[in-house]
Amino acid sequence: MRSVDELIADGVSGRRVLLRADLNVPLDKVTREITDDGRIRASLPTIAALRDAGARVLVAAHLGRPKGEPDPQFSLAPVAARLAELLGSPVPLAADVAGPDATARAAALADGEVLMLENVRFEAAETSKDDAVRGELADRLAGLADLYVDDAFGAVHRRHASVADVAERLPHAAGRLVARELEVLTRLTEDPERPYVVVLGGSKVSDKLGVIEALLPKVDRLLVGGGMCFTFLAAQGHGVGSSLLEADQVDTCRRLLAQAGDRIALPVDVVCADRFAADAAVTVTPADGIPDDLMGLDIGPLTVDVFAAELADAHTVFWNGPMGVFELAPFQAGTRGVAEAVAEVEGLSVVGGGDSAAAVRQLGLDEDSYGHISTGGGASLEYLEGRELPGLSVLAD
Ligand code: 3PG
Repeated sequence: MRSVDELIADGVSGRRVLLRADLNVPLDKVTREITDDGRIRASLPTIAALRDAGARVLVAAHLGRPKGEPDPQFSLAPVAARLAELLGSPVPLAADVAGPDATARAAALADGEVLMLENVRFEAAETSKDDAVRGELADRLAGLADLYVDDAFGAVHRRHASVADVAERLPHAAGRLVARELEVLTRLTEDPERPYVVVLGGSKVSDKLGVIEALLPKVDRLLVGGGMCFTFLAAQGHGVGSSLLEADQVDTCRRLLAQAGDRIALPVDVVCADRFAADAAVTVTPADGIPDDLMGLDIGPLTVDVFAAELADAHTVFWNGPMGVFELAPFQAGTRGVAEAVAEVEGLSVVGGGDSAAAVRQLGLDEDSYGHISTGGGASLEYLEGRELPGLSVLAD
C-alpha cells in the first residue's frame, strides 16, 4: 500500500488531491454543535501534510445518514468550521458534492488551499449497491482531482463511491491515520503479547457475533458487558426482566458459552432501574436475580472489580462498546471503571472506536493513557473479524 508520505515525496505541489476523511462526528441534537471532535483531530496530520506540501486539497466526507439528498441538518458546515480552526487556515465548503459549485471551486484552488465538499451522502449514488450507479459518482469525484488519498479509516468497511470506487480511478495512497490504525490492529491479530483480553459492550449482540466467533480462539479472556450481556445471561437460563434481549440470538450465545464458556466472563451483578431515565430509581442486583419489572442498564460494582482484575494482568487489550448507558449519570460507573482499568494496562491497550472512544473523552479520561484510540468502531471490528474491507483492498491494488 502506497503511503501519503511517498506521494508527497514524489511531489504534490500544485496537484489536486481528493482526500477521503472520516469526519463523522457526533452533533448535539438541538444546537447541532460538535460534541466530540476526535475524528477531526485525528485527520489533521494527513490534511496538514498535504497542504504544507503545496497540494490543492479537496476533503470528501460524510456526516450521519441522510437519505441520499441534500438535508441541511447533515451539512458539513460545522465540521468545515472546526477543521479550519484546528488547521489554522480557511476551509470553505462547496455547496454540492461533485456538482457545478465543487467543480468551480476545485478549479480555482491555489497551492496549499483546502476545500471541503458537501456531505458525500447527499448523493444517493454514494451508498448504492449498484456498481454502475456508484461508478458515475466516482467518475465525477475523480474528475475533480489528480490523486486520491484515503484516510477515512472509520469508513473503509463500506463499499461506497468515495471510499472504494474512486480509488480505482486515480493514483492512490493511504493517509497517516489509516497507516497508524492498521499498524496497531495488526499487532492485535499477529502474535499479541499475552494475556490478551478483549472487552466487548454495546447494545446489540447480533452486531458483535462475527467478531466474537473470530476472537474467541485467539483471546485468553473475553469480558462481556453492555446491553449485549443480557442475551448471554438469558442463554445461561437467567431471567433478565425488561432488559435489552435479542431472543433470536439466545441459542447462538448458548452455543458460544458451551464452546468457550471458560474464556467468557459475564457480569456478576447489574445496575437496574424501573425505567430508562436519569432520575429512575436504581438498585444493584445479582446478575442471576434481575426482578421481572426492572431493566439492567449498567454492569454492577462487583463486576467492575472482576473485570478490572482480569485487565490488571493483561498485556494486550482491545475494548469496544460501553458497559452501560454511560450518557446517563446513574449508569456510567461500569464504563468508567472499565475505561480506567484499560488505561492502567501495562502493554498495548486499544479502544475500538465509536461509543467507547467517545466515552473516554466524555468521561474526562486522559486519552494519552491508552496505547491507541481507534477512530473506527465498525471498521476495527470487521478488521479483527478478518473480513475484507473494500476501502483497504482497493488501496493495496
Ligand atoms: C462510523 O461512524 O462508524 C463511520 O463514520 C461509518 O459510518 P456509517 O456506519 O454510517 O457508515
